[in-house]
Amino acid sequence: MLRILDHPLALHLVTHLRDKTTSPATFRPLCHHLSVLLALEATRDLATREIAVDTPLEPCIGRVLARPLVVVPILRAGLGMVEAVVSLFPDVGVGYIGLERDHATARARSYYCKLPPLAGARVLLVDPMLATGGSAAQALDVIKRQGGVEIRMLNVVAAPEGVRAVEAAHPDVAIFAGALDRGLNAQKYILPGLGDFGDRLYGT
Ligand code: PRP
Ligand code: URA
Repeated sequence: MLRILDHPLALHLVTHLRDKTTSPATFRPLCHHLSVLLALEATRDLATREIAVDTPLEPCIGRVLARPLVVVPILRAGLGMVEAVVSLFPDVGVGYIGLERDHATARARSYYCKLPPLAGARVLLVDPMLATGGSAAQALDVIKRQGGVEIRMLNVVAAPEGVRAVEAAHPDVAIFAGALDRGLNAQKYILPGLGDFGDRLYGT
């Protein structure tokens, strides 16, 4: 399942992220705000449970989140999306998967992995760019091997090729994206896209 954000603010944020004149100082808060919208959409169906609370006036029954949440950024660009999730869900567990695409082959090489317990948790895999889908599919393999079951993927921009690859390898994983772009160029960059997200986020 692929869901593209349809909030007007999402269109606004993605457009400014695409703009090549946007500096890292502006790029970071744009990414943060878009990640908030994505996180809200991807957690719309979180389970809740009843609890009793006393308001200043009387007792009442309320609802609180019932199950643990874990966010897993794919390093390094995914780091730009983590704070948004942590700010909304302070109890969230945070795992890290380090993958880097080889510039010549566009294949992702794994260099780091540390995950909190995943059993029973909703897992949000965050990576701004879904291009070939190679990084996402590898990360999802790792998360599932370590016990992740209920997984959502959050991307700022997705390409149809990446969506197809994730849907083929992990049909159970719903994808939430800020935009679905036209496709990939010969170097496997997304068009129109926004360039290299990590470079734009960190000024490299
Ligand atoms: C980018 C991006 C994704 C990956 C997407 O990371 O953040 O992880 O490419 O491409 P794919 O769908 O074809 O695998 P990159 O490898 O450039 O590393 P970085 O985050 O360290 O810049
Ligand atoms: N990674 C990026 O950062 N941008 C792309 O367009 C594709 C992969």
